Parts: sequence; structure tokens; C-alpha cells
Amino acid sequence: MQMRALGSAPFPVSAVGLGCNNFGRRGTTSFDQGGTTAVVDAALDAGVTFFDTADIYGAEYGLSETRLGEAIRGRRDRVIVATKFGHAQAPSPLPGARGSRAYIRAAVEGSLERLGTDRIDLYQQHTPDPSTPIEETLGALDELVQEGKVVAIGHSNFDAAQIAAAEQAASLLGTVHFVSAQNEYNLLSRGVAAEVLPAANAAGLGFLPYFPLANGLFTGKFSRTERPADSRIAMIRPQVADEAPWDAMDAYAAFCAERGVTMLQATIGWLLAQPGLASVIAGATKPEQIRANAEAASAWSPAPDDVRAISDLFPVVA
Ligand SMILES: NC(=O)c1ccc[n+]([C@@H]2O[C@H](COP(=O)([O-])OP(=O)(O)OC[C@H]3O[C@@H](n4cnc5c(N)ncnc54)[C@H](OP(=O)(O)O)[C@@H]3O)[C@@H](O)[C@H]2O)c1
Repeated sequence: MQMRALGSAPFPVSAVGLGCNNFGRRGTTSFDQGGTTAVVDAALDAGVTFFDTADIYGAEYGLSETRLGEAIRGRRDRVIVATKFGHAQAPSPLPGARGSRAYIRAAVEGSLERLGTDRIDLYQQHTPDPSTPIEETLGALDELVQEGKVVAIGHSNFDAAQIAAAEQAASLLGTVHFVSAQNEYNLLSRGVAAEVLPAANAAGLGFLPYFPLANGLFTGKFSRTERPADSRIAMIRPQVADEAPWDAMDAYAAFCAERGVTMLQATIGWLLAQPGLASVIAGATKPEQIRANAEAASAWSPAPDDVRAISDLFPVVA
């Protein structure tokens, strides 16, 4: 497995990571501990060492972290653990504004306990909090780094102006800087390409694309007529397949077949070719999925012409 820098973080991350939002999610094979541990075991066997979760993932607050913590028990030093706090829309038992010092101090203690660890490698603000000055958030996160509870910090769902403002505030205050940006990015969702990615690159951040496989649409298991019954798309996100641009998807399938690669390999290769991209944090509900995703990291390195051709199949909608 190729390892990549995550901005200026003092640790590298595996080029393919593992998104953990289906750990503890009802209706998935990774709902229970056995299913989660099987996926984590397969990930580690395949060289995937970067795990991205959040306090709000799972059927109840904290459940994904609890599942992940149990799965990595006894092998904490082999993994890089990323989690998140302060999602604006998700239920949270914690008091106060979600970027405030009080909230962060409470949130981190819960995450550390559920993860069964004394440190979080990457602690990310899940969504911006317009009611709290970024200076306060940075100050609280800086304390956590000084105390050794957090190694590096990242943000998620920030726009370009918020990324630049946070970078400037950290410089002025002399606090720890964010090292990563996590935003939605896949072949069908490239809104960040115009402003967010350039801002993240300018700030030297490692970029982490979420929904990198568009909820599984780009794994090659879907067609105009086929939707595996046990997939998230079939069960809870039918609109992803209903609204997919099937003419472009068919052209993409033909493009992959001509080159002798699977759609999954082409998609992960395309993502890894994007500037500043640190790790493809695709989710996986089964061991064979994470094995295939890990293999895809080195299966095909698209030439610049291939990267352009794939992008051109799915024009960015303004
Ligand atoms: N920061 C944020 O606001 C935010 C928001 C969303 C997600 N995220 C992060 O991004 C991560 C990735 O997003 P995601 O997991 O929601 O979507 P995704 O990576 O686009 O899709 C993952 C889903 O695709 C299917 N899949 C994956 N690999 C496969 C393979 N090799 N073969 C067949 N099917 C495969 C699995 O679902 P099925 O088995 O059900 O088909 C899997 O759960 C999350 O886990 C989370 O860590 C962050």
C-alpha cells in the first residue's frame, strides 16, 4: 500500500483508507461488532491503516467509534485514527455551540473513551460553526494538541473562504494549523474543484474526498437495471441510481473494459491522480470490498490523458 502525506501532519496515511460511517449502521453487515471487526481485519491485512469515523456515525451517537475502538483494541499503534466533532445538523447530547471550547472539550473526552485510546491522530471539525469565531475553535484544538490528546487537526465541509480564514487565523494566533480538508468529491460531485480544492492546496492541506464512490455507484456493481438488494443504494439511497447519468456510466464502463481495468480501479486511480488528494476514504460493509479497494490503489495509474478523458465523461454541472 502506498503511503501519502496528509498535509503537514506528522504521520502519513494509506492511499486507500476506510470510511467508517457504516460501522454500527442498522441494515449493514457491519452493524454488529463481528461485522465491523471483519472489515477492519481485512483492511489491516491489505495495508489500509487510515480509519475515518465521527462521533455521530452509527445507529446511535458514538456507536461507530465504539465499534472501531473495539476492532483496533491491542493494535492501536498500527493505525491512524481520524474522527470528527460538531456536525451542525446531527443530534448530539453535548451542550453549547458546536465549535465552542466547552463543546470540543466534552466531545473529545467522549471520543477518546469510545475509541479506547489516549490520542486521536486527526480530529476534524465536521461542519463549520457560524456562531463561534474560528479563533475560539482553533484555541480549543490547540490546547488538545498541547495536551497530547490530539496529534493533528482537520476540517470538513468548509468553503474556500472559510479555509483561507482558518489558515490566516492560525498564523495570527500562533496556534496549531489545520492539516486536512474533507469535502464531498467524486466523479458526479466535483463542485469543490473550482474553489475549495485550490484553497486547500494553497493552504498545504491534505484533501480527503467523502462519498468518493458516490455511495457505491462507481464500484461497477450497478447498471441501468441491476441494483444489488443488499446495497445502501438499493436500500436507502435509490435516488443515486435513479438519477445517475446512465449514458455516461455506460461509456465509462466501455472505457474501463478497453483498458482492462475495473470501474472501481479506474475510479480510485482517477481520485488518486487529483492534486493534493491524500487518501480515498471509501466505506466498506464487507471484507471483500475493502480488499478490492486496497488493491485498486496500485492496480492502475491513469496517464494524464486518461484522467482528462474520465473527467470529460462526467462534465461538472455548474
Ligand atoms: N465529512 C462529512 O461530512 C462526510 C459525509 C459523508 C461521508 N463521510 C466519510 O466518507 C466516507 C466514505 O463515504 P461513504 O462510505 O458514505 O460512501 P462511498 O465511499 O462513496 O461508498 C461506500 C459504499 O460503497 C459500497 N462499496 C465500497 N467498496 C465496494 C466494493 N469494492 N465493491 C462493492 N461495493 C463497495 C459499500 O456499500 P454497500 O455495500 O451498501 O453497497 C460502501 O459502504 C464515510 O465512511 C465517512 O468516513 C464524511
